[in-house]
Amino acid sequence: MINPFVLLSNKISCAIDNMKDKKISGQRLGVFVPTPYAESHGATGSQSAPYIGLGKVLKGLYLARNDSFVDIGCGKGRVIAYLLSRGFQCSITGIEINPEVASVAKDWTANYNNVEIVEGDAFGLDYNDYNVLFMYRPMETDTFKLFINLLEMTLTHSIRLYYYVDGQSGYHLNDRPGWTLEKRHNIFFVKGLFIHREPQRYSVWTYSPEI
Ligand SMILES: C[S@@+](CC[C@H](N)C(=O)[O-])C[C@H]1O[C@@H](n2cnc3c(N)ncnc32)[C@H](O)[C@@H]1O
Repeated sequence: MINPFVLLSNKISCAIDNMKDKKISGQRLGVFVPTPYAESHGATGSQSAPYIGLGKVLKGLYLARNDSFVDIGCGKGRVIAYLLSRGFQCSITGIEINPEVASVAKDWTANYNNVEIVEGDAFGLDYNDYNVLFMYRPMETDTFKLFINLLEMTLTHSIRLYYYVDGQSGYHLNDRPGWTLEKRHNIFFVKGLFIHREPQRYSVWTYSPEI
């Protein structure tokens, strides 16, 4: 059973998220949508990352105009909303397999020239078009491993990967050729609130293709 204090605190964190969503996108982006793509694609459901958590995970992030960011499994676009609230003007892409949530992200970002939402499978993108990758655990472990294989087989330049909720599958990158762990921390109680219902972890990686 979840501690009632954690539950209450988490509700406050969600209420803050709702307010920020409305300010940036004009609507709430936090309602969970289960995935119809679990069996076919190893996909997780559409759960939005909390803003306070994004503030911590992406704290050191600076995006110059010529950077190119992609949220792999962007859901309704919470991460994109966070980046826009920080005023980043570089190219920002979200790819989302579930049309039901991709359409929400497409609609509210339509007026931002630097944002593109691609409805489709993350395995279909060319990641050489990006230098900063973000994932909020979009895939189950076996699929994540296949995705990492794809990156290693196709990337010709270095990238940085922010992997939020890496507890189940982040170990796969440990000691892997080309991958360097920049930081890894637990994330649960931030700014006086339990932003998740249970402890989570995130990691930040750089990947450089072997020469
Ligand atoms: C946990 S949600 C994260 C949403 C958003 N990134 C955020 O942090 O607020 C993961 C999303 O990844 C999507 N997803 C899972 N597998 C995918 C794939 N192969 N291609 C594109 N999207 C995928 C799911 O449909 C889901 O919306």
